[in-house]
Amino acid sequence: MKGTRKVFVKSFGCQMNVYDSQRMTDTLAPEGYVETATAEDADLIILNTCHIREKAAEKVYSELGRMRRLKDDAAANDRRVLIAVAGCVAQAEGKEIVRRAPAVDIVVGSQNYHHLPGLIARAEREGHAVNTEFPVDDKFDHLAGPSRAAMRGRGVTAFVTVQEGCDKFCTFCVVPFTRGAETSRAADKISAEVERLADAGVCEVTLIGQNVNAYHGAGPDGRPWSLARLLEHLARVRGIERLRYTTSHPLDMADDLIAAHRDLPALMPQLHLPVQSGSDRILAAMNRRHTRADYLDVISRLLESRPDMALSSDFIVGFPGETEDDFAATLSLVDEIGYSGAFSFKYSPRPGTHGAEMTDQVDEAVKSERLHRLQHAIDYQQAAFNRHCVSRTFDVLFERPGRHPGQIVGRSPYLQPVQVEAPSSLIGEIASVTITEVSTNSLFGALARQPALAAAGA
Ligand code: 5AD
Ligand code: SF4
Repeated sequence: MKGTRKVFVKSFGCQMNVYDSQRMTDTLAPEGYVETATAEDADLIILNTCHIREKAAEKVYSELGRMRRLKDDAAANDRRVLIAVAGCVAQAEGKEIVRRAPAVDIVVGSQNYHHLPGLIARAEREGHAVNTEFPVDDKFDHLAGPSRAAMRGRGVTAFVTVQEGCDKFCTFCVVPFTRGAETSRAADKISAEVERLADAGVCEVTLIGQNVNAYHGAGPDGRPWSLARLLEHLARVRGIERLRYTTSHPLDMADDLIAAHRDLPALMPQLHLPVQSGSDRILAAMNRRHTRADYLDVISRLLESRPDMALSSDFIVGFPGETEDDFAATLSLVDEIGYSGAFSFKYSPRPGTHGAEMTDQVDEAVKSERLHRLQHAIDYQQAAFNRHCVSRTFDVLFERPGRHPGQIVGRSPYLQPVQVEAPSSLIGEIASVTITEVSTNSLFGALARQPALAAAGA
């Protein structure tokens, strides 16, 4: 048996990185690596990085400074620590990372995680190992799945990557460069993974992909399945009570997907559908391939299909050329839709993208001021959406102990965290909760009635 070593993985950025980090620890488990929650006692430190905005990329370098000190301290005690940089910064910057941060031993791009054991061996032998190629084979065919114990330890909700990469080339975005061309996993592999998760007690699955609703993986008959078809299939897996998917592009909100929100009770009534801007001029400059009217049309069809659908979005302020009128159009779109929440960002020029070369960059102070105004509008809507939930009763899936003793916390169908005074035996169960109070980000509620199992004392 191989000796036990400890691996510490820190994830930055999106949920796909969280999922990839888990796949990396699963792949290293048969190599004798056990996961540790602290970098101090790790033999291998993996930073799974994000390149989406400059701030995210810079965070990695400051974290590397801290990791280098840990590595030096360990070396002083005759203990060798390896540092690996994975994810989108690794993909975008490759060898440059080792030049800027020589303490880094391994650079592994987002498509090469299955090569980690080999890269570790090479780094131990030769000092450094870098692999940022886009191989033709699918990394998921080689990456180990989680053990039953690992699945249990990760709770009752899980992410499953179904699609990766993007062919849309929005002019602000690095994803098509860091994650590569769009690929979809075969439906039977996804289905097998979801069945394993359900067996281990998972009851909510979120399908993830950079452009998830462009999913077109091979079905069991070899013909491509749409995301709607996949969801319909997964809704039949025993034990799966809730399905979600993220992140979607408005252009790919196909009719069958919109209809699935009407037809599949397991499909939760919450959708993250980024619009980025409310101005047609800016949407065109961003190469979003849809107009404000197209977006509003998708939203109105969604609401027809599922009237209680909660919507969220991403926004970028200060894209090159954005005038006060363009920004006002974004504010008016927010007003028109009424989001349950949204993320908003200052435009950050990314190397290699068209946007970074545009000459009419917006002043930082203007960006900050617009961001402030937009966030204010979004916060107001989120608070209104939450207030609207008071006195309503809906199902909550309890995920973990709450902030205070005696409390447990779960999610509403609309993805809001809900704190409830209830026994911890309800963790992993769905129970009906009446909302009694709201704060900015959380709801508070009381059990409306005990689920049958708990009532029977099982
Ligand atoms: N600058 C600012 N925000 C960006 N995003 C993507 N690229 C950039 C960028 N260059 C935002 C978009 C996207 C979210 C994940 O990050 O809003 O939807
Ligand atoms: Fe990036 Fe999303 Fe546009 Fe693809 S669709 S380029 S991931 S913002």
